[in-house]
Amino acid sequence: MGSHASDRRSGRVIAIDGPAASGKSSVARELARRLGFIYVNSGGFYRAITWYLLGKNIRPEENDLIAAALDAAALTCTVTDNESRILVNDMDPANHLRDDRVNETVSRVSRLARVRQIVSQKLHDCAAARDVVIEGRDIGSVVFPDSPYKFYIDASPEVRLKRRAAQGERDEIAMRDHDDVSRAVSPLVIAADAYVIDTSRVTIEQVVNEILTRLGQKGLPSSDVHITDARAR
Ligand code: CDP
Repeated sequence: MGSHASDRRSGRVIAIDGPAASGKSSVARELARRLGFIYVNSGGFYRAITWYLLGKNIRPEENDLIAAALDAAALTCTVTDNESRILVNDMDPANHLRDDRVNETVSRVSRLARVRQIVSQKLHDCAAARDVVIEGRDIGSVVFPDSPYKFYIDASPEVRLKRRAAQGERDEIAMRDHDDVSRAVSPLVIAADAYVIDTSRVTIEQVVNEILTRLGQKGLPSSDVHITDARAR
């Protein structure tokens, strides 16, 4: 009577969830580097899909057109320099993922059940046979609920606004937060077993160290020990 969930993948998953501009990307990327895990930005999948639909002039309300367009598109997750990269029909949208119009539209695309289903499957594919740090909104709560390594990264709304402005982006984060928290499918929530960290007054380095300490308590190495994949040569 073994658990089937654990048969689905062989890699370990560290889930980092939180609202926009909470610092989770920087934290997740640095954590992955320190552990020698692959860094996966699940928001990038939603952004790539949004970019693709915008290019086809399909609006977020057009559910049927979206489903048909996505069924016909090849969405591929590759890994370059220890980070995931998403290709849509072999095109790499990396330089467009943070365009204003993608920022404006992504939360309305990500609320669609079909879109979430596709991204969730891609994330499982990506995590199969790899150790990964995945950041997003529902990674610990919905996509990898069995992961014992869940973190929720937060910061005050004022700090988050300032951070996004400092990045030079036009991004209505309050509106996106509202959409992400209030949607029917997989809303942004704090998983019951997530460890919550407020990054308003601490550095990325301090947050990463706190996470590494916590992971060490849970049996994952807490220093810069490089964990190598047994298959890597
Ligand atoms: O980097 P930032 O926090 O601004 O956002 P992101 O992680 O790139 O995510 C962009 C949008 O994708 C979010 O506002 C959500 O609407 C959606 N998203 C999601 O619904 N679920 C995830 N696991 C990740 C992102």
